[in-house]
Amino acid sequence: VIPVITIDGPSGSGKGTATALVAQALGWNLLDSGALYRILALAAEQSGIARTNEASLRTLAAQLPVEFTGERILLNGADISRAIRSETVGTFASEIAALPSVREGLLKRQHAFRELPGLVADGRDMGTVIFPEAPLKVFLTASAEERARRRYLQLKDSGETVNLADLVEEIRARDERDINRPIAPLKPAEDAVVLDSTTMTIEQVVNHILSEATS
Ligand code: CDP
Repeated sequence: VIPVITIDGPSGSGKGTATALVAQALGWNLLDSGALYRILALAAEQSGIARTNEASLRTLAAQLPVEFTGERILLNGADISRAIRSETVGTFASEIAALPSVREGLLKRQHAFRELPGLVADGRDMGTVIFPEAPLKVFLTASAEERARRRYLQLKDSGETVNLADLVEEIRARDERDINRPIAPLKPAEDAVVLDSTTMTIEQVVNHILSEATS
């Protein structure tokens, strides 16, 4: 069997960075499942599909004309790596992520990332729904204020104009939607290792996960 490490958690918990570094250290493949929801949101917006049109969203999810080339993500040949990171796209992504047919439409695509020598999968339901048999499941959290602060620095870095207070609100709203949805709600798997990263450096988080992986 191809080994999988799942890293789930809310926005700004540091799971994106941790996943990339763990995958790099192990030489394993990486799945950024949140990017798939974001890409779908952007693609839907571009083709004028309403966020309530489940049938069209499902078809689009299954046929998404997306390519992953190194650091870049191409949609219909256009580089959308930056465009999908905005808060607007994040909010739209979390709205459509609550639709069962959307999650169903993205299922196969996510499983296809499981390739040798192994996979590190980042998301909300990697350990609970997509790879429940993964031997190591991590749930990464941090306080809402700290998570908003991290997102703020990240977005500012990428040139987006953001306001910290608005961001705290957006993060809270997105958390609430992700936690309270009936399908694949954000929560730790029963056998997950829960890590609170509020006062941890990214190196500490990565080392902790790597030590769990090799123990
Ligand atoms: O980077 P950030 O944590 O802000 O968000 P993301 O991981 O890119 O995910 C964007 C949105 O997609 C989340 O708020 C979730 O609603 C949804 N998502 C999901 O439902 N299931 C996943 N496995 C990953 C993301």
